Amino acid sequence: MGVVRNLRQVAADDVGVDIAFRADVHAGLAQRRKAIPARWFYDATGSALFEDITALPEYYPTRSETDLLTRHAADIASAIGPGRAVVELGSGSSTKTPLLLDAIAPAAYVPVDISGDFLRDSAQALAARFPAVPIYPVEADFTQRVELPREICPLPKLGFFPGSTIGNMVARTAIDLLRNWRATLGDGSMMLIGVDRIKDIGILERAYDDPTGVTAAFNLNLLERINRELGGDIAVENFSHRAVWDDVHARVEMHLVAACDMDFTIDGRAYHMAKGETIHSENSHKYGARDANLLLRAGGWTPIATWDDADPAFALILAEATEFRSAP
Ligand code: AVJ
Repeated sequence: MGVVRNLRQVAADDVGVDIAFRADVHAGLAQRRKAIPARWFYDATGSALFEDITALPEYYPTRSETDLLTRHAADIASAIGPGRAVVELGSGSSTKTPLLLDAIAPAAYVPVDISGDFLRDSAQALAARFPAVPIYPVEADFTQRVELPREICPLPKLGFFPGSTIGNMVARTAIDLLRNWRATLGDGSMMLIGVDRIKDIGILERAYDDPTGVTAAFNLNLLERINRELGGDIAVENFSHRAVWDDVHARVEMHLVAACDMDFTIDGRAYHMAKGETIHSENSHKYGARDANLLLRAGGWTPIATWDDADPAFALILAEATEFRSAP
């Protein structure tokens, strides 16, 4: 079967730069509190740096989630059943995917990712490993509406959203996304989602500020990417990485901190930053058991099983598309 079709749903300009990247950077830097969406970390360099992060001893989420998928594969498989089209949101290098595909005997696999090169490579590797499963890669931003390949239309779907990627979104955006995917995947679908738990603040902050500086490099690469792709002249060496827990929002925030007053241009547009000012580059929200269930229910998904006995704590939650009802 192999890789059947490649669907591209992102728009680039005539120099090959994602139109939405340019727009998001200018809009984000024009705000009083500067911020750039975390999805723009993932150019080829950023995607490779993220793979390095997942191997850090301090970055437990990947290990905890892989441990859950491995130990509970049989349980997870019997709750999901065979014959579904697995649609993975933000598949990246698809390292956890084989654990799931091995367990559940799916009818098709649809990796959705914004990073085209990464998507193609990992789809090829999976095709070699699962020759009987048709693979339909979709290059798209999964936070926008995605059009699924029509070949999987008649199949029951399983959304697979691992890695605590939902944690990047503020509650309102997370719920919009879950509702969108409830509509896209349709009645009778299921969602297997990875959610990171609230835990000791020291463990959380170290996971996002490792002593070897890999996470710092990942964060700073956003500025390098702006310089590379948008003709910026940002003095990256004048920025430092900061990761801090915010208890009100229950999230780790990542910032790029200006070490001195500075001026720079992007696309010829001028920006100023004062010493100590930051660009807010990522949120990683963490959820207690009932928080996560509420988020899913608000998004149109009814939780039916949770696996969360890994250490440090992390949860895999299986939910089914909530039936529409006119009354309780
Ligand atoms: C890929 C969004 C799940 O928030 O833990 C890791 C990204 N940022 N270290 C996370 C990330 C810094 C990661 N997610």
